[in-house]
Parts: sequence; C-alpha cells; structure tokens
Amino acid sequence: MNDFYNPVHTFLEKGSTGRIPELVKELCPEGGSVLILSWNAAVFELAGFLRLAELPGISLQKLIFQVSNPTLEQLFAVYRETADFCPDVVIAVGGGSVMDVGKSLCCLYGKKIASEEELRAMIREKSFGAPRAKWIGVPTTAGTGSEVTCWATIWDPSQDAKRSLESKQNYAYAAIADPDLIRRMPLSLAVSSALDAMAHAVESCWAKNTNPVSRALAFCAVRTVMSHMDGLLSGEEQARDAMSRGSLLAGLAFSNTRTTACHSISYPLTMHYGIPHGTAVSLLIAPVFRLNRGRIREAEELLAALGVRNERELEERIHRILRAAAIPDSLEEWGVKREDLRILAEHGMTKGRADNNPVELTADGIERMLESIYACKTERERASA
Ligand SMILES: [Fe+2]
Repeated sequence: MNDFYNPVHTFLEKGSTGRIPELVKELCPEGGSVLILSWNAAVFELAGFLRLAELPGISLQKLIFQVSNPTLEQLFAVYRETADFCPDVVIAVGGGSVMDVGKSLCCLYGKKIASEEELRAMIREKSFGAPRAKWIGVPTTAGTGSEVTCWATIWDPSQDAKRSLESKQNYAYAAIADPDLIRRMPLSLAVSSALDAMAHAVESCWAKNTNPVSRALAFCAVRTVMSHMDGLLSGEEQARDAMSRGSLLAGLAFSNTRTTACHSISYPLTMHYGIPHGTAVSLLIAPVFRLNRGRIREAEELLAALGVRNERELEERIHRILRAAAIPDSLEEWGVKREDLRILAEHGMTKGRADNNPVELTADGIERMLESIYACKTERERASA
C-alpha cells in the first residue's frame, strides 16, 4: 500500500489554544453547541476558552473527565450526561483517554442508546454510522497521537476485551498541540508518553500497511523523540516542546498504518496489571524488533534513528530511560504473576494489531517475549544474555 490520507488541520505552537474560537466559528458559522471535555478545570481559564464562552450564538457545556483507560461503562455515563445537549462540536482537552472518549461521543450523538449493552453491540458491529458532531483535539500529554487518528480505544473489562471505535469520517477537524499545556506533565508520565510515541513511529515502519509518507514521518518522529529523551529526563523545557512535535509526527505516521505486535501484546498488561500504556509498549520494542528483524525495511537506519547500533543496545537504552524516570522496568516489579504469562500471551493476540505485524505471532512466541521482560535484570546480566 502506498496511499496516505489524513485530513486533520494541525497547529503546533505555543499559545495555539487561542485559535479555538475561530475554529469553532468555522464549524458553526450560524452558532451552535460545544461540549468541552477536559482533564481538568484549569484549561477553562485559558484565553482561548474564555473567548469561546463569549462568542455569540454558542452554547457551552463543560465536563471534567479524569479517567485513564476509559471503559465502555464510563463512555456510556458521559454519553448519558451530554446526549440531551447533543453538541455540534466536541473539544477534547487531555491525554489519549479524554480524546478517545471525546471522539467516540461524536459517533454516538443523535442515536438513541438506551443501555451499555446497546452501546457494546453498536461498537462491536460498527453500526454507529456517520458522526453527527465534529471534534477538536487538544492534547495535554505528548504521546498518544490520538488527536490525529480516527480510532478510539474503549476498554470493556466485564467482557475482558479492548474495543476500537473507528471511522474514517471521524478524524478531528483540528489538532492543537500547544507545548505550554504539555509542560505541566509529571516526569514519569512525560517519559511513558514519549516512549508510546516512539513505539507508534517504530511500529509504523514495519507495519504491513507501511508506506513512504508514513515512514518519512516515522523516522523524523523517532529521531525527534529519542534525541531529546536525555533532555526530557534532565528537565529541559525545549525537550518537552520536541516531544510534542515528535508525538504529532508519530501520530500522523501510524494514523495510516496502525500499530503492531508491541501494542497488541501490551493491552492485557495494561488492562490486568495497570502498567501504563507507554511503559508496557516500550518494554516490548526490543523483543519485537528481534522477532521482526528480517522483515524490517531499513532496519539499520531505524536503529540509527533510535540512537543505537543493535537490538541489545536498544533494550538497554529503553531500560535505562525507564529507570531514570523511576518507572519499574520488569513485569515482576509491576506485580505480574509468572503463572499468568501464558494467559497474558493468549490475550496478547489483539485483532487488527497482531495481524498487522510483518511476522506471524503465536501464543508460544509471545510467552517467550513476556518471559524475556519478566525479571528485573542488571545491565551485566542483560549483556551476557
Ligand atoms: Fe500507543
């Protein structure tokens, strides 16, 4: 496949939240209703949102949503709370979880959904149809790239499933990556998010749907993220700006390729053990690189973009980054039980991700990879492994 499509208007500069009123006016020239779904209340005081509230003909509903890894039940609760307001525009301000809920809502408004069961069936059968509302993504973390993708991850723990609500008609109208918002992230979240962005870019290079445009974006994203990682760890402000840029580039890259084995295998680790998404995928980058090596175009160039010479150095680099941010870097430290590795491996074959990996995944192969990241190892043990 060599086609690439992404219609999101992107803004990447300090103070770009000030563009929000003009974007809403473009979407609602005759006036309309706007839901602001935000991670916290502080954003309502930003100049762009204050001016939005003063726009004639615009009615606002503000809602705080502070959930990570949103579930179907939580999505349904927000839908119920806002369905009568039925906004024309949703502005989602937060990390990937807030954006995933915001973009999902756009597909749900205007439909009568009476229960969680109906919502589950609608997502499973992809029967939600064209979105009624448009959305604008304003990321406050630098990693998920959700502001430029057309799918949303909704967890369904009662069914032990991860669901994807996706529609090519549901790309954001605009993505506003304002580095001033991203600077407020705590270090461990900033590092985990940056590693998620790195994984999006790396996986898009070897995904079955990789293409020249996505690879160009991905290589630029990998270099941007990894060359500023030490700066991020030492608190440099410009490194946070770079992560904002790298995350957006990685998001654009994988918006057309999707992710592969690392993400596929990571989902049950997050769902059952609460390992932060970016941390879980980063632990799998080196093992999956080894698995895919023979099928990676420009593998040497990709390693160079990552700032390493081989898979062993890549593994070391990831673990050093995690430890420097005080993030546990083994499944054992995250409380994973060794006897659970087999079932985690079987649940790691996520549809749409596992089958997008260039090398076929098997439960045995995944179990071996999980075993390789299970125990806490010293650098010497790793070097002699
Ligand atoms: Fe991710």
